[in-house]
Amino acid sequence: MEKMIIHGGAPLRGTVTLSGSKNAALPIMMASLLTSEPLVLSNVPRLRDVKTAMDLLTQLGVAARWIDDHRVELHAAKVTSHEASYELVKTMRASFVVLGPLLARTGRARVSTPGGCAIGARPVNLHIAGIRALGSKIQFRHGYVEAHAEKLTGGRIWLDSPSVGATENILMAAVTARGRTVIENAAREPEVQDLARVLVKMGAKISGAGTHVIEIEGVERLHGAEHEVIPDRIEAGSMMAAAAITGGDVTITNAPIEHLEAVATKLREAGVTVEANGKGVRIARNNGLKPVELRTLPYPGFPTDLQAQMMAMLTQADGSSVITETIFENRFMHAQELARMGADILMKGPTAVVRGPSKLSGAPVMATDLRASMGLIIAGLAAEHTTELSRIYHLDRGYEALDAKLSSLGARIERAQEQ
Ligand code: EPU
Repeated sequence: MEKMIIHGGAPLRGTVTLSGSKNAALPIMMASLLTSEPLVLSNVPRLRDVKTAMDLLTQLGVAARWIDDHRVELHAAKVTSHEASYELVKTMRASFVVLGPLLARTGRARVSTPGGCAIGARPVNLHIAGIRALGSKIQFRHGYVEAHAEKLTGGRIWLDSPSVGATENILMAAVTARGRTVIENAAREPEVQDLARVLVKMGAKISGAGTHVIEIEGVERLHGAEHEVIPDRIEAGSMMAAAAITGGDVTITNAPIEHLEAVATKLREAGVTVEANGKGVRIARNNGLKPVELRTLPYPGFPTDLQAQMMAMLTQADGSSVITETIFENRFMHAQELARMGADILMKGPTAVVRGPSKLSGAPVMATDLRASMGLIIAGLAAEHTTELSRIYHLDRGYEALDAKLSSLGARIERAQEQ
């Protein structure tokens, strides 16, 4: 196993380009099941989760191959299996969104339920209720969801909460269903919008993606398409927090600023310069950081996937910041590790009070999930001496070439083998 070694103290300076969005790429890859023609995707990040998605699709009979560095071709001429195994779904929960497209294409799907997760319970009840509303029979047996429908039919679905995965699963099930489907209280995330864009390119009839009500008029069949995955807004926000904590000056060439309103607002409140110029989006900080209050919310609110990174940054703000996590019930595992590095964080239920500025000192730390890992790296960049982050396989699930990108900005960071 590998670990990341970070020697703190160097301000980040320079220019960086984001990879394609993990959370857009994964469901879009599953959409390849909906057609017998090839789906060619560019700007696909080289990540462990993308590899897991390729493995899953391969097991289902899809010819999945890299055409070049960031382009994949997914060709589901025939679908030869109906099963997404526990092995795959437990490694990557996003595999569960295979249910909708697999069922739509073949009339059958057997998908392992994901089980627990480090950041919260994360049930799939909304996915199931939606698929059921489209006329599928559903049974739970031996840890698997078994879905069966000769032909799905359109329906009206109201989501209890705007779940990203449930919206994507239902969307993919509905595109070839008979008649009209309406998803109310749908997720509005840019990744859902990107999936809808691909489906439309494939011949689907969808309106309202990006709003709370998505309408789908079922079509007989979908065809192949080409699509460029959107840049990763979470990688963007992570780089922004990293630049800010080090008092750096970084330009992100392809930051999707329109997807980062909430993040830019909170960074500006904290005293960070965030400005779009001809070269991209520039993040700079000359003065001290100010404390902020923030609450994670579904898009366009502040993303839960940037909560850990902001918490790390706010350890350096002059005063008390208040962070409330409303999406996942257990997404504060990084707080204890940050405390080991010298942060002063008071936890009360879903709220964390971060009292700054604290002098951070490097320590051996361990993360339980992807974004928590990034939060600890950000803290390490501002800490005295050396931080050693173990279990970086979490990081490799969602950040492409992170050490290379940070090094190119002047960070002193390297990988080493864990003893
Ligand atoms: N929920 C339910 N029932 C459901 C589905 C969700 O109660 O059937 C709850 C969840 O337990 C959670 C909340 O609804 O409390 C939001 O979950 P959502 O379904 O929106 O999240 P997701 O689709 O499982 C995606 C991202 C996550 C990101 C969340 C929220 C992908 C592959 N994953 O997960 O990304 O945090 O949306 O924005 O798109 C990450 O990249 O590190 C990551 C965890």
